[in-house]
Amino acid sequence: MHRTHGRRWILMGALLALMVLVATTATAGTARTTAATGELEVFSWWTGGGEAAGLEKVIAIWKKENPGSTFKNAAVAGGAGTNAKAVLAQRLAANDPPDSFQGHAGAELQDYIKAGQLEPIDTLYKQFGFAKVMPKQLLSQITYQGHIYSVPVNIHRANVLWFNPKVLKQAGIAKAPNSWPQFITALQKAKDAGVIPLALGEQWTQKHLFESVLLATVGQARYAALWKKGANWSNPGVRLALTRFKQVLEFTNTDAASLTWQDASKLVVDGKAAFNIMGDWANGYFTELKKKANVDYGWAASPGTKGTYQWLSDSFTLPKGAPNRAAAIEWLKLLGSKRAQDAFNPVKGSIPARKDANPSLYNAYLKSALRDWKTNRLAGSLTHGVVANNAWNTAIDTALGLFLQSKDVGKFQTGLVTAAKKA
Ligand code: GAL
Repeated sequence: MHRTHGRRWILMGALLALMVLVATTATAGTARTTAATGELEVFSWWTGGGEAAGLEKVIAIWKKENPGSTFKNAAVAGGAGTNAKAVLAQRLAANDPPDSFQGHAGAELQDYIKAGQLEPIDTLYKQFGFAKVMPKQLLSQITYQGHIYSVPVNIHRANVLWFNPKVLKQAGIAKAPNSWPQFITALQKAKDAGVIPLALGEQWTQKHLFESVLLATVGQARYAALWKKGANWSNPGVRLALTRFKQVLEFTNTDAASLTWQDASKLVVDGKAAFNIMGDWANGYFTELKKKANVDYGWAASPGTKGTYQWLSDSFTLPKGAPNRAAAIEWLKLLGSKRAQDAFNPVKGSIPARKDANPSLYNAYLKSALRDWKTNRLAGSLTHGVVANNAWNTAIDTALGLFLQSKDVGKFQTGLVTAAKKA
């Protein structure tokens, strides 16, 4: 009698242990709730002004919450990831992925998905309810064939015209230009006042300027159509955009090629340039430089694009074969959290990917961005991977590079037509 009782207890105990084991293994497969151990290697291109500081905020939380794990910051310098993406491609080809890497939501992310380099992370979304707190338009850009592949940390705006209010006043420019003719008039006034009218940096920043001019010239709907299959790039709208781009380049600094985006943006807050068209990471940089929004710098939608939010989003992935997969999952879980997004974004100069941010943490510029994101039409950024993948971007880079030498608008358009056909 006693013996049967004993056996029954042992059996029940074993069953309970099995259930606990099954439960913990299942959680480990999705997202663990315990702290990570071992090294976590995170790959990005955030090393420069404003950018590294944002990342450091998240690293600080990581270190505090995961004391048993070491963080390896594998960031490769160079704005817009120009160098980093090349290094990453080599590593992925050599089956040497980091535990998590930065990739833009949209066409750029799809490159990695289609190449079979990423794991879907739907379980993480289910477990932590990320899909409920992120905008649908953004979710659609990180979803492929019904599966989600990354955790977006932010939403950046590309079409921002930054200006120095004091310089504008001295040059007799009453307000930030809104239309193309107003822009040209303002640039001429700045030139006459002896400052750099439009600060510019290395080639990717010139493509960044170009996408703003293209959007302004053809409008949001036609801009969106240009990235669809079979789009007509030889139309007069594109031609006008290229002509305007050429025109506006005449108002830029001659040493652009040797300047980073930070160098170019800084010319504005230093009072040496009137305007700069750059993404709102410039707001992060200005904040780091202790410059005050609406005092040391002002902003507006880049001329002709008011009411459209040309957006992009930095997201992080779970590469197949990540050496420390468990830690990578913890990292992604942290990135999707409100506490990480509200620590990262006010410093990075972006609005959070989550809809439940605490607006009081964000400066005047970001408060305006939070409002605009809700009400504006959307257009995806070219330079930052939303509308065109890496190969198409590279083909456009080549056409642009040749144009910057020749200034031949016709040849540039032919180059863009060919690039679109190949894509
Ligand atoms: C973008 C990136 C931003 C910012 C910028 C300049 O591609 O999405 O987060 O880092 O480049 O480097």
